Amino acid sequence: MGPSNIFPPSASLKYSMVVLAILFAAVLVFPEQALAKNAGITRNYKFNIKMQNVTRLCQTKSIVTVNGQFPGPRIIAREGDHLLIKVVNHVKYNMTIHWHGIRQLRSGWADGPAYITQCPIQTGHSYVYNFTVTGQRGTLFWHAHISWLRATVYGPIVILPKKHVPYPFPQPHKEVPIIFGEWWKTDTEKLISQALQTGGAPNVSDAYTINGLPGPSYNCSAKDTFKLKVKPGKTYLLRMINAALNDELFFSIANHTLTVVETDAVYVKPFKTKVVLITPGQTTNVLLKVKSKAPNANFLIAARPYATGPAAFDNTTTGGILEYEQPASSASKNRTRKLTLLKPALPRFNDTNFATKFSNQIRSLATAKFPVNVPKKVDRRFFFTVGLGLNPCPKNQTCQGPNNTMLAASINNVSFVQPNVSLLQSHFFNKSKGVYTTDFPANPPFKFNYTGTPPKNLMVNSGTKVVSLPFNCRVEVVMQDTSIIAAESHPLHLHGFNFFVVGQGFGNFDPNKDPAKFNLVDPAERNTVGVPSGGWVAIRFLADNPGVWFMHCHLEVHTSWGLKMAWLVMDGKGPKQKLQPPPSDLPKC
Ligand code: C2O
Repeated sequence: MGPSNIFPPSASLKYSMVVLAILFAAVLVFPEQALAKNAGITRNYKFNIKMQNVTRLCQTKSIVTVNGQFPGPRIIAREGDHLLIKVVNHVKYNMTIHWHGIRQLRSGWADGPAYITQCPIQTGHSYVYNFTVTGQRGTLFWHAHISWLRATVYGPIVILPKKHVPYPFPQPHKEVPIIFGEWWKTDTEKLISQALQTGGAPNVSDAYTINGLPGPSYNCSAKDTFKLKVKPGKTYLLRMINAALNDELFFSIANHTLTVVETDAVYVKPFKTKVVLITPGQTTNVLLKVKSKAPNANFLIAARPYATGPAAFDNTTTGGILEYEQPASSASKNRTRKLTLLKPALPRFNDTNFATKFSNQIRSLATAKFPVNVPKKVDRRFFFTVGLGLNPCPKNQTCQGPNNTMLAASINNVSFVQPNVSLLQSHFFNKSKGVYTTDFPANPPFKFNYTGTPPKNLMVNSGTKVVSLPFNCRVEVVMQDTSIIAAESHPLHLHGFNFFVVGQGFGNFDPNKDPAKFNLVDPAERNTVGVPSGGWVAIRFLADNPGVWFMHCHLEVHTSWGLKMAWLVMDGKGPKQKLQPPPSDLPKC
């Protein structure tokens, strides 16, 4: 008797069907599991937007926070993970959150800029930001993207490589976020709304902060100082984020050298530096290899502004302290004897020379694993002037801009007017009429010596204009600073893409000579770049992400004045080249 005869005929049939089913399931399941390993997991976060009393610089004020935390909670994910972040708005302000630098492939509804990709989340309402982190790893950050609420609503995003994938640099002993902010004693929402009414510049901040703490150079702040405690001989990865509203920052640690390994969640060719320049909207990962023996000193970690514009700026310095773990024998000694605090040397506030040298050092890895996908050919070229301008003062009012005008800012002399419904919704539902037009100028409306004597008429035009691009269009944009009112460095940020910084220079861009010098070998790949003060920068990107993508100066005051525009990228023909329909909980205006 064969073993199969153990079972009666009917059971035998069942048995073989079960075996078949298992085999069939195995075929289905195992490749799935192999995929799942790469596909990542789903991570859920809940962001309760609520007020919180916080004391800084001897004063307590009620600020908008996420979950009562300042800075806000850290988002951690691995490359390939799916994020579901439920934002519940318990404050009186409308709210949106932007996941700055996340590419949002076909998930533009989760990008976050108010009235660009969504209507804001109103008081008492919620919205689930739903997106996948694809092809990115490194440090990014999230922040409120409506009015000036990002002054206190921001936090780090840490994207780890996929499991078992190492960094292309030595594994650090510890990873530490260093997030820079800017602190006002006054209510920043009142500040910007008043400034926009009077046409003048809003007051500058009262302090800069490191991880929410101003540090020892400010009144009442010795106890509000960030401390980095290190073990001798170890290497630390500092995940630096500039979440300040209006100021580019120089950063340094006394007597220590930093190695830059990543910018804007893209690995770069490592280079050593004593000072890092980081603009609002940029992130920079640096390795800090500390001394092998604990020195008899503490070291100041300091940041202060790089400022090129005509306006007043907050000329203070934020500080943290790098402390070594002392060997047990000297610990008791040092408890009674205060260690000296060594201070770093930072560049002068207007050291454009340093800024240029620093940004030229940022180069893509350009390896087989991390190739540079810079478009070698270009389908559409744009030449954008970026800078300040003026609006006339409304009748029966006096204004605080120059000669009774209102300060404004523009791209190609168009000062962007925020619509009151979202551009992405208007586009998706074919309701653009009366919301936006697609005639954003590819070139300045009139030519002048952009970095020379400004023209007589400094008035800007206003409008809600976008550039429409076909799917997979290869785009080049030269952004030219102007000397209208005054030359100034502008950190331009593009949503939905990384771009390649193929060239930069001073004076006016020369379309005949400058393109020959473009770097198409290892250009920096980023989401925010400083347009040099009195100069230009050339970027390229592939428009492979359908949706409406905001581009703006990440100095919040310039965004408020209109230095912003949007790209409308059409769907492609393929099934994976179309914007998904909006989620059902997308907020209504
Ligand atoms: Cu970090 Cu549109 O901004």
